Amino acid sequence: MGELDGRTALITGAARGFGRAVAHLFAREGADVAIADVAGELASERVSGMATESDLERTRAEVEALGRRCVAIRADVTKAEDCERMAAETLAAFGRIDILHANAGVFSYGASWELTEDDWDTVLGVNLKGMWLTTKYVVPHMIERRYGKIVMTSSRDGLRVEPNYAHYNASKAGVIAFAKTLAIELGPYTINVNAVCPGQMADRSRRTHPRGVTTNPYWDMVTGQEGSTYEDFDLASGRENLFEEGGQIDFSEVAEGVLWLASDRSHMVTGHALPLDRGWIAKRGG
Ligand SMILES: NC(=O)c1ccc[n+]([C@@H]2O[C@H](COP(=O)([O-])OP(=O)(O)OC[C@H]3O[C@@H](n4cnc5c(N)ncnc54)[C@H](O)[C@@H]3O)[C@@H](O)[C@H]2O)c1
Repeated sequence: MGELDGRTALITGAARGFGRAVAHLFAREGADVAIADVAGELASERVSGMATESDLERTRAEVEALGRRCVAIRADVTKAEDCERMAAETLAAFGRIDILHANAGVFSYGASWELTEDDWDTVLGVNLKGMWLTTKYVVPHMIERRYGKIVMTSSRDGLRVEPNYAHYNASKAGVIAFAKTLAIELGPYTINVNAVCPGQMADRSRRTHPRGVTTNPYWDMVTGQEGSTYEDFDLASGRENLFEEGGQIDFSEVAEGVLWLASDRSHMVTGHALPLDRGWIAKRGG
C-alpha cells in the first residue's frame, strides 16, 4: 500500500530535476500525477537552459511505467492563462487535485549591483509570481473540497542568505512568506500549506553535469578555485553541509520531505518552512 494511494497531484517544473524526482516518488506511492513545465526557453537574455518537450515526455513515460496515470502540460507559471489552463487540464484528467507541488524555479547569480533588470525580473517572476499564480487557480477547488496539500519549493537561501544571489534569496524568502500567508488563509478549510528549503541537490546517478557543461564560473565561486570541474563543485557543495561527505544531496532524498508534507501523516504541520539540507542551515547557526 502506497502513502498516496488514490491521490492526484500537480507538480510544476517536473520535466526534469527535482520535480521529476518528486513525480517518480509520488507515482511509486500510488498517486496519479500531472506534470507541468515551460518545456522551452523563457523570454530572458540571461536565464536559459530550461527543460525541453522531450524531457517532459520522458517524465510522463517514466510515471506511466510506474503504473500511474500522467498528464503532461506545457505551461509557463509566469502567465496567468497558462496557470488557469494547467489547473483546468489537471481537473479534466483526474477530477480533483489533492496535492499541489509548486516547484518551478530558475537561478542566476552575480553581485547585487551587477545583476541585470532581466535577472531580477525573470527570477522574481518565475520563483515568486509564478508560485502565486500556480496556487491561484487550484486553491478555489481545494477550498470547495476542504482538502488539499500544498508544498512550495523554496531553498536554504530563503532562510539563510548567501552573497551573489540577492534576487534568488529574495524570491525564496518571498516564497516562505507567501506559503505562511496562504496557510493562515486556508487554515479554516484544513488545507496544509508548507515550503521546503532544500540544500544544494542533484541527480547523483550522474557523475558529470546533466547537460554536458564542463566549466562554470559558478562552480569556481563555490570551490574558490578557477577551472573547477563538476566533481570539484559537487564535493565542495557537500562539504558546506553538517554531513560533509557525499557531495550534493540527491533529488530523491529531498523528495522524501515533499512526500511527507503531501501525505496525511503530516496533517498537523502547516505554515512552516522545512529545511532539507543535511544540516547546512544548522551549521550556520540557524
Ligand atoms: N538544485 C538545487 O540545488 C536547488 C536547491 C534549492 C532549491 N532549488 C529549487 O528547486 C526547484 C527545482 O530546481 P531543479 O534543481 O530541479 O532545477 P531545474 O532547472 O533542473 O528544474 C526546474 C524546472 O522548472 C522549469 N521551469 C523554469 N521556468 C519555468 C516556468 N516559467 N514555468 C514552468 N516551468 C518552468 C524548467 O524547465 C525545469 O524543468 C527550483 O524551484 C529551485 O529553485 C534547487
